Amino acid sequence: MNVLLLGSGAREHAIALKIKESSLLTKLFISPGNPGTTLCGINVNIGSDFSSIKDFVLKNNIEMLVVGPEQPLVDGIWDYFHNDSELKDILVVGPSKMGATLEGSKDFAKAFMQKNNIPTARYKTFYKDTLQGGKDFLKTLNPPYVLKADGLAAGKGVVIPETIEEAEKELTQMLECAKFGEASAKVVIEEFLKGIECSVFVLSDGENYKILPVAKDYKRIGEGDTGLNTGGMGAVSPVPFADETFMQKVEQRIVIPTINGLKKDNIEYQGFIFIGLMNVGGEPFVIEYNVRMGDPETESVFPRIKSDILEAFNSFRKKSLDKINFEIDSRYATTVMMVAGGYPENYEKGKEIKGIEKTNDCIVFHAGTKENEGKMLTNGGRVLAVTCYGNTMQEALNKCYENVDKIDWEGKYYRKDIGKDLL
Ligand code: AMP
Ligand code: GLY
Repeated sequence: MNVLLLGSGAREHAIALKIKESSLLTKLFISPGNPGTTLCGINVNIGSDFSSIKDFVLKNNIEMLVVGPEQPLVDGIWDYFHNDSELKDILVVGPSKMGATLEGSKDFAKAFMQKNNIPTARYKTFYKDTLQGGKDFLKTLNPPYVLKADGLAAGKGVVIPETIEEAEKELTQMLECAKFGEASAKVVIEEFLKGIECSVFVLSDGENYKILPVAKDYKRIGEGDTGLNTGGMGAVSPVPFADETFMQKVEQRIVIPTINGLKKDNIEYQGFIFIGLMNVGGEPFVIEYNVRMGDPETESVFPRIKSDILEAFNSFRKKSLDKINFEIDSRYATTVMMVAGGYPENYEKGKEIKGIEKTNDCIVFHAGTKENEGKMLTNGGRVLAVTCYGNTMQEALNKCYENVDKIDWEGKYYRKDIGKDLL
């Protein structure tokens, strides 16, 4: 079968590599893809307009659309396909627009969790005309305070002020001064949860589910989790503290009620559910839902999937994911993200990358690169993600860092402490 994958990051490179291994694949197209995905399929640049995607899909006999990032899902690409007589038989891997609201609206996600008794931080939602109520609610909480813009804000919509004064100021800026534009017209204020985070990924056909390998990502730019937030600086899978006891709680208290809650509300959901969790003294609480895979978690999680991923996706047609034998590599996989100097603030592009060909026993996923006259150049903040396997986390990390050392460009930066907090 011919497959179209949307997206351009290292996450999509990791997904493309897995699709390429499938016995069901005829041709894989990636739009827009990156120099890494050219090794897995054909890069095309269709753009984000649904009607252009339709034209391409029909012209190239695409039978399956796999959506990497959240935006097309939040914009309703599933519904567009579902409601079009020429597209309705094409399988879209990703939820309906309503399902994508789990990521597109924090208020919707919190109400969904509350309704389905899914453990999450206590919260209330406020608007411009209930600003005073928001300030009063803040007074009932202990610092630090968690304020979340309701809508998508390019991963920047969460602020965690330390003092009540800062929190009130922040709330006012979000609601009255549209700090995050339309996204902060509504603000969720919630209790701060103290613990350690991990990312749980679930694949669902709407009826059945498979829990994918659990991962932990490292969001801050600086070692010891300091400095600005980034798109993610590294990941490890599995996560030692997410042991069988913990994962059983996750499955019973979170995964099953989530799938059942979606079904009860007739929300079409065939795709990935990314559950951002806080482990609070051994008890899992949901921090957020995303309706896609995580980046860089995918670069650690997907290499551990041994089964044919297209076979799993294809089972959505008959809602028979339960019949699929989902095999996971028992080894650790770890990922170190190599970024441009200056990232996540201003950084330069166009630096020549050298040494990728010297790496061994690892997978180099492309995030922000560009090929120009036979040279590989940096073309983004996050540039390459280096993933290695190991029988222990330490072994995988050692291999990652040996390989990271072989790759070079002017100003390259990476965190040297990925996974260290778990060893
Ligand atoms: P989100 O965009 O919802 O993933 O939030 C960004 C980050 O803020 C999360 O990864 C957490 O580190 C942190 N965060 C969000 N909500 C809470 C909470 N209730 N308690 C503690 N930390 C939180
Ligand atoms: N790694 C977090 C995310 O993809 O949102």
